[in-house]
Amino acid sequence: MNGQLEVVVLAAGKGTRMCSDKPKVLHHLAGKSFLEHVLDRAKPLDATATHIVVGHGAELVQTEVADYKARFVIQAEQLGTGHAVTQTLNALHDESVVLILYGDVPLIKTSTLGELIDLVVSDTMALLTVDMVSPKGYGRILRDTDNNVIAIVEEKDASDEQKCITEVNTGVMAVRARDLKRWLPALSNSNAQGEYYLTDIIAMAAHDNIAVHTAQPANEYEVLGINNRAQQAQVERFYQQELAAQLMDAGVTLMDPSRFDCRGSVTAGRDCFIDINCVFEGHVELGNNVSIGANCVIKDTQIADHTDIKPFTMVDSAVLGTQCSVGPFARLREGTRLSTKAKIGNFVETKKAMVGTGSKINHLSYVGDAVLGADVNIGAGTITCNYDGANKHQTNIEDNVFIGSNSALVAPITIGNGTTVAAGSTITRNVESDHLVMARSKQKSIHGWVRPVKK
Ligand code: UD1
Ligand code: CA
Repeated sequence: MNGQLEVVVLAAGKGTRMCSDKPKVLHHLAGKSFLEHVLDRAKPLDATATHIVVGHGAELVQTEVADYKARFVIQAEQLGTGHAVTQTLNALHDESVVLILYGDVPLIKTSTLGELIDLVVSDTMALLTVDMVSPKGYGRILRDTDNNVIAIVEEKDASDEQKCITEVNTGVMAVRARDLKRWLPALSNSNAQGEYYLTDIIAMAAHDNIAVHTAQPANEYEVLGINNRAQQAQVERFYQQELAAQLMDAGVTLMDPSRFDCRGSVTAGRDCFIDINCVFEGHVELGNNVSIGANCVIKDTQIADHTDIKPFTMVDSAVLGTQCSVGPFARLREGTRLSTKAKIGNFVETKKAMVGTGSKINHLSYVGDAVLGADVNIGAGTITCNYDGANKHQTNIEDNVFIGSNSALVAPITIGNGTTVAAGSTITRNVESDHLVMARSKQKSIHGWVRPVKK
């Protein structure tokens, strides 16, 4: 490519076929809008400017991608893809190569885009095409007997013979701004849809002896456009398969790659195992030999070597040390920190909890706003009463403490080293080290007591 690169993303359409109140490009794929996928994939190309054409739901779209430092161009009425690009002409530098992307084609690879823009040299433009088994709905590529591209005909304008062409327009093209400025004002809307088609510039290029060079993506799914919910689901699966394949290539065992979902990114060390139906969100880092049981949801979390997450566990914004065991049915919430060999069992909820080396919370407990030392044992049914109705308070449990089952620890409170809390206690004041503390009503037995009988 000669000259600087500018990117234009078309995102003004309503997306009627989504049957939604939301603009189409804000619908999600793997937890991120279609438009953000497109922008993320274009970002490494280091364009001097990115122009996003917005129209339907413009304000919503602008807010959603405000972080991208793009320039927004309003297309007040959606009169077609050619009309959309026309709105950007004033902002484009004559010497630029313009890469045109569609906001509803989210899986395009950066490498494919790079190859495409490299095809633009003087007196050429570049078009990404693909051979589709079922080309229905796409614009078809017309070539002359010497195989030169001479035009694109839209499905709705195509003859039966043209509909048999399987090479289709992906919508992605790279054109000199200078040429766009010449061609776009000359578009007409006399076609089946009454729209100004961007695709009509191909015939203009042929007429002006600007050669249309074509490139093809490595995989068809890169250029699938999303027009309805069924296509959204289909593209989601392709994306998940791609992420699953990357993890397997990196040495992770996936019990079933078709039942793997990542809405963000996962990195993994050696010999990790992920069972079926797990969902990963945000950024998740797995060390070596980490095992994740079936049906877990893990978000923004780091899990160190040899830690075992058992089925049906949810982990959010936590850092788990080595050789820990969590679940089944555990919920580790934000700010949970587990040291080496900590153990969290079933029906345990933790939040802002530091759990020391070798400490155990094995059953049915809530531990929030708490710091636990090493080798602490929390009995079943223990609750840290951290909330007084207005403020949160801290619980400190020092090393080697044993909390008997069904205890309530009313924060703020500190339980000293080596102390034992008797089962069923409600502890409201600090306890020093090496004590046995009991705070429950005394047991009474009445010999010979007679049960009431029914009258
Ligand atoms: C378009 C192409 C078709 C190609 C297909 C690939 C044209 C005329 N047709 O058809 O050749 O095979 O994409 O997916 O270009 N948009 C605007 N303003 C408008 C109209 C559309 O911003 O006035 C945006 C839409 O938001 C969308 C993109 O342009 O992101 C494509 O529009 P869409 O109506 O989906 O075009 P297709 O019919 O899919
Ligand atoms: Ca489309």
